[in-house]
Amino acid sequence: MTSAARRILVTTALPYANGAIHIGHMLEHIQASIWVRYLRMAGHETYHVCADDAHGTPVMLKAEADRTTPEELIGKMQRAHQADFAGFGVDYDCYHSTHSEENRQLAELIYTRLDAAGLIVKRKVVQMFDAKRNMFLPDRYVKGDCPRCQAPDQYGDSCEKCGAAYTPAELGNPVSVLSGEKPELRESEHLFFTLSARRDFLREWVADASPGPGPGPRLQPAAVNKLAEWLDGELRDWDISRDAPYFGFKIPGFADKYFYVWLDAPIGYLASFRKMCSERKVDFDQFLAPDSSTEMYHFIGKDILYFHGLFWPAMLEGAGMRTPTRLFAHGFLSVNGAKMSKSKGTFITASSYLKLGLDPEWLRYYFASKLSDRIEDIDLNMEDFVNRVNADLVGKLANIPSRMANFLHKRFAGKLSAAAALIKVDADRIGMLYERRRYADAVREIMVHAEEVNRAFEVGRPWDLAKNGESAGQLHDLCSAAIQSFRILAGLLKPVLPRLAADAERFLNIDPLNWDDLARPLAAGHQIGKFAHLMRRIEPRQIDALIAANREQQQPEDGDTATIGIDQFAAVDLRVAKIISAEEVTASDKLIKVTVDLGELGQRTIFAGLRGKVDVATLAGQSAVVCANLKPRKMRFGTSEGMLLAAPGSEGGLVLLQPAGSTKPGAKIS
Ligand code: 2FM
Ligand code: ZN
Repeated sequence: MTSAARRILVTTALPYANGAIHIGHMLEHIQASIWVRYLRMAGHETYHVCADDAHGTPVMLKAEADRTTPEELIGKMQRAHQADFAGFGVDYDCYHSTHSEENRQLAELIYTRLDAAGLIVKRKVVQMFDAKRNMFLPDRYVKGDCPRCQAPDQYGDSCEKCGAAYTPAELGNPVSVLSGEKPELRESEHLFFTLSARRDFLREWVADASPGPGPGPRLQPAAVNKLAEWLDGELRDWDISRDAPYFGFKIPGFADKYFYVWLDAPIGYLASFRKMCSERKVDFDQFLAPDSSTEMYHFIGKDILYFHGLFWPAMLEGAGMRTPTRLFAHGFLSVNGAKMSKSKGTFITASSYLKLGLDPEWLRYYFASKLSDRIEDIDLNMEDFVNRVNADLVGKLANIPSRMANFLHKRFAGKLSAAAALIKVDADRIGMLYERRRYADAVREIMVHAEEVNRAFEVGRPWDLAKNGESAGQLHDLCSAAIQSFRILAGLLKPVLPRLAADAERFLNIDPLNWDDLARPLAAGHQIGKFAHLMRRIEPRQIDALIAANREQQQPEDGDTATIGIDQFAAVDLRVAKIISAEEVTASDKLIKVTVDLGELGQRTIFAGLRGKVDVATLAGQSAVVCANLKPRKMRFGTSEGMLLAAPGSEGGLVLLQPAGSTKPGAKIS
């Protein structure tokens, strides 16, 4: 039973093109995929699109570090991302890129309309500039001492130690993460979208209790509260431009200004849909019109609510376009009760999961069994994962046909009797739970029905019936009723378990199930197909292998030492030095004090832990290699202003590293 068909566009947040898809992404993409699959089964014209979020400084720098072009990098990433999603049964109608012609045109169109409406203003901003790299630095690319608690090595926007928020200009001893140099403050003209002028519109938009067909208000209650906080506070205008060098779209009318990545990212939803529309001859222009009858839904993480609940609707409205119908935010994913961690092996990539042969439907089921319509964090507890999947999917669902199919084929030529299902299911109610994204409730109800079926054939004792020729009719009815029930259960779980449902449809010898079909039983005499195994158990060793693979494979986290990018290497300023003098520090049994000439950098004093390891008397006059941009370190005997490089000698002790040929003090080593 479905209401009149609707036309619906569903999107999932666009993954950045500089990293792999992990199970945190999968939580959202699976959540949306289940919704889309349900809506399609319910007869609605439903499209699901996504794209890679390709622009911005991190992509530009990663391409540089990988010695490739941004275009190459994002192409490779997009292919990998698409394969990961497809592997998990997330079936996109179009998976595009924000670095596309469709997106360029739409971004320019929206910007031009906002400008024409007087909503774009120019303002001067002062920003950190890395003179060596000749670029303005995003906040995360400046590090220094926290202005509040003085903790060293903090990012330019907030302190991880004390939580203070600040601007990079407030950091003590700031350094550019890219070059290791001290950045300077420079002024530049930026373009701003006047969000402050859209406050009244946004208040009304956020509060809309019935924004379109389908149940529920525009936003979840917790999202309304969060947005209200921002709307009642200082609503700052939004800086939408970045100066060259930047990987993005040029802003029309400016030689060296680019749209900030977050300006064209959500427009990427539209670009992807536009591509699909032109391929399938769907009317895209009607979709964009303010009175569009196509609903638009965005599944997002709670961390990007600000962009989707304020900037995005304000931009669309300002450009005279339709706005999203509803936003569905979710919480974060933790693994075994903690933040996903590369060193623990719980930062699990989608591709490792697939490569190791774990069944994607296990994860789809587990997430479904935990998801609600609220913005709450979800934990993937590995032990619970194994137990729940094995108990529910193998123990309660897949075992039903495996027990019945044999009897039916051997005794009754694979044909059903007229017996009705063993369960009475309110498919409308379960459909409503899916539509409201209360998947955990839906799954719980479905599993209660699965238990009923299991109990009924335990009570019916088909094995005993099979021994007695006179009970053939009873046996036939029991098996047929169980098969009818299994068909309903497989249909109810089809949004979550599309592969299992497709296998079940094959085994049952039926057309693809829709929601309406669930109220209609198979006719007496229907012939079922050959039974094939529907679901494997998870073995705990598979989880161990998954964790191990992710522990080994991953890039280092902060604090780990493994590979570094070219940027990190370039940040180390190695120079040829000439040793002017060297002496032992009397009050220390480890240190020697060395004065070096670093040419253009002048003279430096270095305290090195070389006492007893090198012949101090022979050092003066020798060449050496020095790390010249090590943070100066205050010691009891004075300040050390660099580091001398040495390696273990073959006869014990240490030997100083020296250039093999003639060079000058201060020469840069690369
Ligand atoms: O937070 C992120 O991962 C962003 N790449 C999401 C962008 S969603 C949309 F606006 F494009
Ligand atoms: Zn601090």
